[in-house]
Amino acid sequence: MRKFILTTALFLCTLTAIAGEGMWLPFLLQQINEKDMQAMGLKISAEDIYSVKDGSLKDAVLIFGGGCTGEVVSNKGLVLTNHHCGYGTVNNLSSVKNDYLTDGFFAKSQEQEIPCPGLSVRFIRKIEDVTQSIMAGITNDMDKKSRDEKIRARAKSLREKAELESGMEISLKSFFYGNEYYMFYIERYNDVRLVAFPPNGIGKYGGDTDNWAWPRHTGDFSVFRIYADKNNKAAKYSVDNIPYNPKRHFKINIGGLQEGDFSMVYGFPGRTQQYLTSDGINETMNILDPARIKIREKRLSFMEAAMKESKTNFIKYASKQARVANYYKKWQGELLGLKLNDAVNKKKAEERKFLAWARKSPSRWKKYGDIIDKQAALYQNKERNELQYNYIRECLKAPELISLGRYGDSILQANNKYSREEDFKRFSKRITGSLDRMDLNTDRKIATALYDMYREEFGEELAISDRRVQAMYTQSALSDPLKLKKLLASQSPEAIKIALEKDPVYLASKFIDSENKKVLTDLRPDLISLNENYRTYMQGLREYSTKPLYPDANFTLRLTYGKVEGLEPQDGMSYSHYTTLGGAVRKRNTEVEEFNMPQRLVDLYEKKDFGKYATWHRGKKDVPVCMLSSLHTTGGNSGSPIMNAYGELIGVNFDRIWEGTMSDINYDINLCRNISVDVRYTLFILDKFGQAKWIVDEMDIVESRR
Ligand code: ARG
Ligand code: ASP
Repeated sequence: MRKFILTTALFLCTLTAIAGEGMWLPFLLQQINEKDMQAMGLKISAEDIYSVKDGSLKDAVLIFGGGCTGEVVSNKGLVLTNHHCGYGTVNNLSSVKNDYLTDGFFAKSQEQEIPCPGLSVRFIRKIEDVTQSIMAGITNDMDKKSRDEKIRARAKSLREKAELESGMEISLKSFFYGNEYYMFYIERYNDVRLVAFPPNGIGKYGGDTDNWAWPRHTGDFSVFRIYADKNNKAAKYSVDNIPYNPKRHFKINIGGLQEGDFSMVYGFPGRTQQYLTSDGINETMNILDPARIKIREKRLSFMEAAMKESKTNFIKYASKQARVANYYKKWQGELLGLKLNDAVNKKKAEERKFLAWARKSPSRWKKYGDIIDKQAALYQNKERNELQYNYIRECLKAPELISLGRYGDSILQANNKYSREEDFKRFSKRITGSLDRMDLNTDRKIATALYDMYREEFGEELAISDRRVQAMYTQSALSDPLKLKKLLASQSPEAIKIALEKDPVYLASKFIDSENKKVLTDLRPDLISLNENYRTYMQGLREYSTKPLYPDANFTLRLTYGKVEGLEPQDGMSYSHYTTLGGAVRKRNTEVEEFNMPQRLVDLYEKKDFGKYATWHRGKKDVPVCMLSSLHTTGGNSGSPIMNAYGELIGVNFDRIWEGTMSDINYDINLCRNISVDVRYTLFILDKFGQAKWIVDEMDIVESRR
């Protein structure tokens, strides 16, 4: 009890200090943040946001696909997420004839919604603290290996038991570098269909030029729908499935906002490294980011040239290019931000303070006194291996053809079977399908240049020669459907084996696997030690800190709260908290693809045909497009609901500003802002541009300002 009073007192005196920064665990909001949130303006309770009982806001938030967030916005399973989160799926649904990326797609009725094979959404139904069960009897001084094994075995058995008992998917994750463990009960829905997708001239407006930057005019949203079986249960795709009736859906507020309004974001932030030591920051800045930027720049130059060559290549590379370009630019912003803000020295100063605190007690000093130095030594020791590990991923694994090498093993395995025909047919279909989705000529240019870069860094002997790279594209059965067909038709298993074991793609992929393994074998002990030390360091930081600390992002459900607000990124310069359609129209340039806004949208603007989605801007009516707020977000938060004080949806998160791109490592409320699409723009585009008012009509809309 005493301890509780003490910690509460600590929270009280730091109340305003924790807003803005922090990705908080939803089930601890009541304990840690509720008072602070209500003082800032929250009008609902922590229990309304997260409850173990059905029907809190958490039941309306979901994992969209592999790495985004989405939210349910109607009682018929309508889902809102980002355009860039649906991009890969819609790219797969597109062809030269039906190019939904360029032309957009708006279903006119439920019947027209398009099934999306491979796409799923996941809800978190329950979260359980399993720290005690995992950690009982485990101490810091145990031998590292047996400690690790014990934890892993316990996690596995807890997961399996929960899986069996609940019938749900279970994910068990570690927080604060293994100081706490939580288990997530997940329900997955596999029948998800496309409802609306604005054309690139809206959904990707500004392209890579505007990516990671403000001012922004991107309508980065898309709409999907979850289907379930007749009993509202998750089911695989079937024409008989019906729209899913969710436990909770968001109301939409179009009543307008003012700077300073309370806001919050609920979603699945992927990865942050807020507690890195100065040497860790140094590694990202001076070793990893520069290498990754250099490699991606090369790779992108070939992708972009190919996309300009033909519509076929545009469809082949649209989503791949967007993915590669996104982090290419992010790392540049991160690097710049870390430099400008002197992140390493700032961290060093904090470390000195931490050590001074530790020095005050012998037991603390014993535990923490050498922790920063130990990390420094480990970072130094792993530098070369870490770089090589990154080069393998960014260079050697970049060509798409290399990924087909894995079929070599499958073919060899099937080759030993009496009935191999079926397997061969299946592999052949998949390989040919993959080849259809790439442009071998472009892929070859990428491989040639990137393998060259790798050789330059790590030497000829450790690499694949250019002669062997070229052979992958001219002599392999895995790069040529005809050769593949001939090979697999061969009657003699022995002949197949001999041919495959000489196949240049298969050989190269084997070589890369073994190189990767070698590097990892060297790297792993350092990574394990680093993590162990961070676990201890984290304990120290939590003892030392006067305010509650939040765990780094790990793609689990989190809530962040702050305000709708602009920023002064530099002296004499100011960012307002919103942009408008008028601003988007002024940026239009039909000669440049990224700024080629559809004429129809310009017409709507000129006719001032804004419906109920407009606001007053400098004495004129206009539609708000994007919005800034002081919410701590990262990759994975894309598609997350931005809510007002009542938990009503006011926007969909999709990006951060350039000055704050370093936030994953060094969050600073004075430089960091997240960017979202104002929900009024989303509804305006659906209703007026897409002429799909039926979608808007399905939502619960609140028209008054709160
Ligand atoms: N930067 C945002 C995020 O990290 C949006 C990226 C989508 N746009 C693009 N041009 N790739 O995902
Ligand atoms: N655009 C990111 C995402 O896709 C969000 C961010 O990094 O701010 O999740």
